[in-house]
Amino acid sequence: MSARHPARLIPVFLLVLIGVGLVQVGFLIDKTTISNITTPLKGIMKGSPYHQSSTEEAITSPHDIYKPTDWESDYFYKWGQTRAGYRWVTESRLRALAACSARGDCPANAHKIAIFATIHSHMALFDGYTGGEGTWSKGMIKSLERQGYTVLFARNNFEYVYHIYRQFPDLVKAIFVDPSGDNGQKYTDFLKKPDRLNGIPAWKFFIAYYFPNAFSSIVGNKWVLTAEPNDNNLTTYTGYEIDRSKTLKNYVPFEQRPHRVYVLAKYLHFFANHSMAAKVWDDDYYQRATDELRQRWPDFEIVGAIIDSRGEKEQKAEPWTLPPGIRNMGKLGPAEFDEALSNSRLLLGVGRPGLSPSPWRGLALGLPFLNPGDPAHKGPWQHHTVAKLGPPYSYNTQKFNYTEFVNNIAAAMETPIEPYIHPLMEAEAVDRRMHDVMTRDWRSEAAAILEERKKGNETQLFIDHPYAGGPELFEL
Ligand SMILES: *[C@@H]1O[C@H](CO)[C@@H](O)[C@H](O)[C@H]1NC(C)=O
Ligand SMILES: *[C@@H]1O[C@H](CO)[C@@H](O)[C@H](O)[C@H]1NC(C)=O
Ligand SMILES: *[C@@H]1O[C@H](CO)[C@@H](O)[C@H](O)[C@H]1NC(C)=O
Ligand SMILES: *[C@@H]1O[C@H](CO)[C@@H](O)[C@H](O)[C@H]1NC(C)=O
Repeated sequence: MSARHPARLIPVFLLVLIGVGLVQVGFLIDKTTISNITTPLKGIMKGSPYHQSSTEEAITSPHDIYKPTDWESDYFYKWGQTRAGYRWVTESRLRALAACSARGDCPANAHKIAIFATIHSHMALFDGYTGGEGTWSKGMIKSLERQGYTVLFARNNFEYVYHIYRQFPDLVKAIFVDPSGDNGQKYTDFLKKPDRLNGIPAWKFFIAYYFPNAFSSIVGNKWVLTAEPNDNNLTTYTGYEIDRSKTLKNYVPFEQRPHRVYVLAKYLHFFANHSMAAKVWDDDYYQRATDELRQRWPDFEIVGAIIDSRGEKEQKAEPWTLPPGIRNMGKLGPAEFDEALSNSRLLLGVGRPGLSPSPWRGLALGLPFLNPGDPAHKGPWQHHTVAKLGPPYSYNTQKFNYTEFVNNIAAAMETPIEPYIHPLMEAEAVDRRMHDVMTRDWRSEAAAILEERKKGNETQLFIDHPYAGGPELFEL
């Protein structure tokens, strides 16, 4: 068949036609220019999860208005308000893509589409969620956008993913999912099957899990993405960047910092008699260490920004108090958090949350991490990637050992470190890994796995995990 066979030109022709059509529709709806339509897209990653001023400037209809929300205090109500906002963003991006396709001036990579369909990425972008999975999602999105890929958002609504996919099946390179989503849907409900050949091939789905526990999608282990590197290299580490230009803005030289320890603990329940408690120190350690170390450094103190995440009624019924010896600064926003860290000399782990981005953030601001664990059992350390750095970056400390606790705090009070960013967390490194996800020949890798699987030779490691699938046969 000749390369100029008319059938081969049809998809290109259709895309241009759709593009031109949408440009016209865009003009009709908006009566302004295409660049105005795309303005909110540029604004979205600036500073806070959305850059509200530029978003608002470009809004043309009332239901497009986003409200950054206080995720922790009023979760479901606000969640409902922004529930459909992602479609507006996605569809304006598709209009922009159609427009640049028609004009022929799309950025490189614009015709490679990534769809984010995880609840944490949705909360991070549309509900102001700043937890670990949110940081990771934003890091991946930022890297893709920096490289010109088209990033679309689908909350965790797989029906909508399918709706997008059906319009541009070949352009969609990767779909980032939680295994189950909105209304009890599973991503596997939309798979390509012998009786549904326009379904989505299983090898285009990547389970975004954060923790480097080795498990598998129905295809194989590499289709699980993680926020931290994994020792076995079985799954795919994407991670996120620590932005030096941001952290160094807040940098305070070691000698100018008070003798202050910052407790890494967002929630009071870490200290409570509660199933979510993170007991690695006895409650009296903080006051004991303060009394002891104030004799050497009169300004010594332990601070934190800790909130009770329970409702008012529960708080009244069973009040929880912080262990003595921690000065609570109350709730801090990201900028205040950085400022508080920059004016401390050590970030103190209390056992949870495991593998959080905060120790990395602390290191970038020049704070080592006191990393609790059980060395007799080779950890597990609160942050096992950071633990590998050892002192003076990571003071790996035996849990419930006051001597180690206080000695390591004292060591950190008098041992400066340079601001540290792990080489894997430099923007270029993240970009390389995200580029790999977007451009690798996943279909061929899946085909090889499938071929062996059909012969009864299973090449992937399947473990029992709530997020795991397979091994299953699938359509390529
Ligand atoms: C991990 O796997 C990737 C490709 O899948 C490879 O490039 C890399 O060298 C591996 N790393 C280790 C430590 O085995
Ligand atoms: C913790 O709670 C359990 C069950 O509610 C109770 O038996 C135990 O005494 C409590 N421990 C402390 C230290 O309060
Ligand atoms: C506590 O830590 C100190 C200093 O590392 C060590 O000498 C001691 O044996 C530890 N105590 C226990 C009970 O393991
Ligand atoms: C199973 O597949 C792997 C990977 O392709 C191959 O190295 C191995 O030889 C196969 N084993 C058998 C028994 O076919």
